[in-house]
Amino acid sequence: MKELVAVFDFGSQYAQLIARRIRELGVYSEIVHHTITKNELLGLNPKALILSGGPASVLDPEHPSMDKCILELDIPIFGICYGLQLLSRELGGTVERGKGGEYGPAKLDVVDAKSIFSGLDSVLDVWMSHGDHVTVIPEDFNILAHTPTCSVASIGNDVKKIYGVQFHPEVIHTPHGMDILRNFLYHVAGCRGGWTMSKFIEESVKRIRSQVGDSAVICALSGGVDSAVVAALIERAIGDRMKAVFVDNGLLRTREVDEVHSMFTDDYPLNITIVDAKKEFLNALEGITDPEEKRKTIGETFIKIFQTETKDIKHAEFLAQGTLYPDVVESRSAHGGPSATIKSHHNVGGLPEELGFELIEPLKELFKDEVKILGRELGLPDRLLKRKPFPGPGLAVRIIGEVTEESLTVLRHADSIVKEEILNYEGFEDVWQAFAVLLPVKTVGVMGDERTYANVIALRIVSSLDGMTADWIRLPHDILSRMSSRIINEVKGVNRVVYDISSKPPSTIEWE
Ligand code: XMP
Repeated sequence: MKELVAVFDFGSQYAQLIARRIRELGVYSEIVHHTITKNELLGLNPKALILSGGPASVLDPEHPSMDKCILELDIPIFGICYGLQLLSRELGGTVERGKGGEYGPAKLDVVDAKSIFSGLDSVLDVWMSHGDHVTVIPEDFNILAHTPTCSVASIGNDVKKIYGVQFHPEVIHTPHGMDILRNFLYHVAGCRGGWTMSKFIEESVKRIRSQVGDSAVICALSGGVDSAVVAALIERAIGDRMKAVFVDNGLLRTREVDEVHSMFTDDYPLNITIVDAKKEFLNALEGITDPEEKRKTIGETFIKIFQTETKDIKHAEFLAQGTLYPDVVESRSAHGGPSATIKSHHNVGGLPEELGFELIEPLKELFKDEVKILGRELGLPDRLLKRKPFPGPGLAVRIIGEVTEESLTVLRHADSIVKEEILNYEGFEDVWQAFAVLLPVKTVGVMGDERTYANVIALRIVSSLDGMTADWIRLPHDILSRMSSRIINEVKGVNRVVYDISSKPPSTIEWE
């Protein structure tokens, strides 16, 4: 049975980061809801438990808790921040509200350098972020470390193998945090490790083969990373019975279809069919100006075309989806607990269940950055793995107003200039997206001796970590200047360029 560490979720963002760090240390981890029962947990056969941090306070009557019997299971436990406070209280200690809390860097004095601090210096830089603190530790526990302002910064019981820290070992601001987690996993909990991407590929290939038998699997390629990795992984398992379908909706950027074509015929040959559906999409979008109406129309047209294109594929019983682990965790919390049904995600074009395929979701145990590592391990080209996100509805949501052949031509040209020029920016790695938006606004200009009356292009160039929040990039003026003059000079129908200086929130990244 697979070696697994269960991370108790008391506040999602902390749990996900911790789970990710444990995997980086070579041990497979899964996030469990804090209400998991003792029997459900035993079903997972965990080698160790981590109690995550979280924004709540154990002093609130409604605080997220856990089944107390779990603390007596003889499974090594490591509590972090809220996790430390919760286990201290459950085991008979006391937690009190501090005066104003402690946030930021701190110097940790280690007084017991065995167990989780083994091999580390006696003074460590750590990152604190807490309001409450432990004032009385449970019986049979020792204080392992303290800071000038936190007398209980770490506790432990070597017999029960239960430990806790008030600081955050999972964040980069705790430079030796990974060493502390490693000590817990390998020295305290006796993990063997060895969870690597090549092991993941090996196990996935076996699983996919046994799930699909002799059937074929359809993969809807979007041109993005996730769907390509899904297709490559399934191809590794069943070869040509993986049937990739890429629908050219006519809403893509310059040369994008050619790039997808060359990527999957030359660089990384896959069994791929490219469907030219440009006309169907343009016809369907005629006269539509409302953003949500555009999205709906594009989604419905995609389904119709996908259905027609796949109906004759022999033995195609399965449809692959690029569902990722955070999607699974989020839908699980939305449903109230780990035992609730996990909803299936439809990342590519919103494919409905009525299509009649059985779903196969080979990435559903992986985090976003692990998908890239997997893609690299599978040998997918770097130019694919480094692609910036691009929305499913494509350029349609970057043309304000009606989408027509002419507006697409103007936007594509302007966008290709943005794409070329942004490569000159030194901080290119920080760019989440850099694109042009075509506004249905005409303004007056003068070119040579001629008066012009033409459209406006807005530039949207943002940094972001996950698309949830974003900031506009303070691009050097010479780059902005080149983008502007090239667009005005080279793109027919544009005589003005503006720079979008709105952050998200309150604005969104896309204009529609
Ligand atoms: P917003 O505009 O909501 O965008 O700030 C956040 C991220 O999501 C992308 N985006 C979409 N992706 N279908 C997609 O597949 C959509 O309808 C869609 N709308 C926005 C956007 O490009 C950004 O990366």
